[in-house]
Amino acid sequence: MPLPNINPTTTNSWKKLQEHYNKINNSHMKDLFAQDSERANKFTIKWDDFYVDFSKNRITEETFKYLLELASEVKLKEAIESQFSGEKINKTEGRAVLHTALRAPKDAEFYVDGVNVMPEIYQVKQKIETFTNEVVNGERKGFTGKSFTDIVNIGIGGSDLGPAMVVESLQYYKNHLTTHFVSNVDGDHVNEVIKKLNPETTLFVVVSKTFTTQETLSNANTLKKWFLKSATEDAIAKHFVAVSTNIESVKNFGIDKNNIFPMWDWVGGRFSLWSAVGLSISLAVGYTNFDSLLKGANKMDEHFKTEDFKTNIPVVLALISVWYNNFFKAESEAVIGYSQYLNQFATYLQQGIMESNGKSVDRNGNPIDYETGTLIWGEPGTNSQHAFFQLIHQGTKLIPADFIGFVKSLHGNQDHQDKLTSNFLAQTEALLNGKTEVEVIAEGTEKSIIPFKVFKGNKPTNTIFINKLTPESLGKLIAMYEHKIFVQGIIWNIFSYDQFGVELGKQLASKILQEFNSTSVNNHDSSTNNLLNYYKG
Ligand code: F6P
Repeated sequence: MPLPNINPTTTNSWKKLQEHYNKINNSHMKDLFAQDSERANKFTIKWDDFYVDFSKNRITEETFKYLLELASEVKLKEAIESQFSGEKINKTEGRAVLHTALRAPKDAEFYVDGVNVMPEIYQVKQKIETFTNEVVNGERKGFTGKSFTDIVNIGIGGSDLGPAMVVESLQYYKNHLTTHFVSNVDGDHVNEVIKKLNPETTLFVVVSKTFTTQETLSNANTLKKWFLKSATEDAIAKHFVAVSTNIESVKNFGIDKNNIFPMWDWVGGRFSLWSAVGLSISLAVGYTNFDSLLKGANKMDEHFKTEDFKTNIPVVLALISVWYNNFFKAESEAVIGYSQYLNQFATYLQQGIMESNGKSVDRNGNPIDYETGTLIWGEPGTNSQHAFFQLIHQGTKLIPADFIGFVKSLHGNQDHQDKLTSNFLAQTEALLNGKTEVEVIAEGTEKSIIPFKVFKGNKPTNTIFINKLTPESLGKLIAMYEHKIFVQGIIWNIFSYDQFGVELGKQLASKILQEFNSTSVNNHDSSTNNLLNYYKG
């Protein structure tokens, strides 16, 4: 069954939501809490080690009812089934979307073109496990017989952001290997990494689904050249491995066929960390932890697939986000992790969310006249409190925010954990309630200063409180956002799994690169001509 194709704005629930919005958009959440002592309980989902409180949103039971109706009117249930059953829901690229198969148990069945892909997935997982163990245990050696100390992941976009974010988030679980990430085509990036490497003990993991990406191939070639200053060609087989669907090009690059970890076209780049793209994760934290990450994601998949929508975490978060995006016209959402380990989480989500849902043509190919993908941004709390929170609290823009926190700290420093958690809880409370003029006056504030110290409050937040940051809970958290992306794409009637918007710039860059060799360039707009000629000198 192809994806349903319904303009959300033509549904009854959308119309009801619009009328309802006109009635309640000025209500203050403070009053909603005062009117209903059960509000927090009604709008909280407890699932596994997740406690998701979405009561601090500008919603009522009526809003929630209409949002759930919207999910059913756009046939979300059917769309979820289409995705999990391996249909080619990535229609514009003619591909299935089955990152969920990568984290499913061995006896699960996922079919692509009538073939169950699980045996192949498990063959590659076995290869990842064996390889990881050999490197971590020191059995695999470099060209001078020394064990590896450093891993360099060479990739960009989904072949970098996912592994980099997970390795950073799971630092606590890391082994003795040092992992580096080279992504930018800026030569300063690769050269800074080179400064830290010893060719005898470094393993290079070249990750590129297509193996055509300029940045990755340039960096891989530079690192290969640098490596060959100390080693001979035959040493490449010991030090370079690749993850790709493009086996021929990997071989042409000079990588031994036994060192290729395959992936499949039904895994989108930004959803690929669960595949061999996650090899650097497995190397950094060990295969058992990598597998726990996948198991966590699988638990979230099951929850998403089977849970009733009103207690389905990704569905509820997606609906609330649509409410702000399309009715309140909020342009962006912040994601604030109260854990320093999550410092790359928002950057990672930017690709997932903005590359997937930054679309302006619907599933019929027609231009859209409603808002789609939100801007996503964020930094860890408490640092962000001292940076951009002023604007969230007192600025003119509405910025719904997800607050992610953990009940237990990893190092067990309770003093720090209590301080961190008090901030985590205080911020969402402050955003909800604000501070009235009466309260400001009661603090003895000088009259002329009063308006500056008033906080309107009524700023929406979701609190995602997780017991502890573990590979498994991180897997659940990432999968939660993946499914949120899917749900929003279905509601907005767009294709979430292509990314044609990144192509034009790539094409023009390759044209401009060639023009650096010509004497004078005048075939662009005058601004680009001037800039180009300025660069050429
Ligand atoms: O930027 C576009 C993109 O295609 C991403 O979707 C992808 O994650 C990235 O480039 C890297 O692609 P590849 O893994 O093929 O090198």
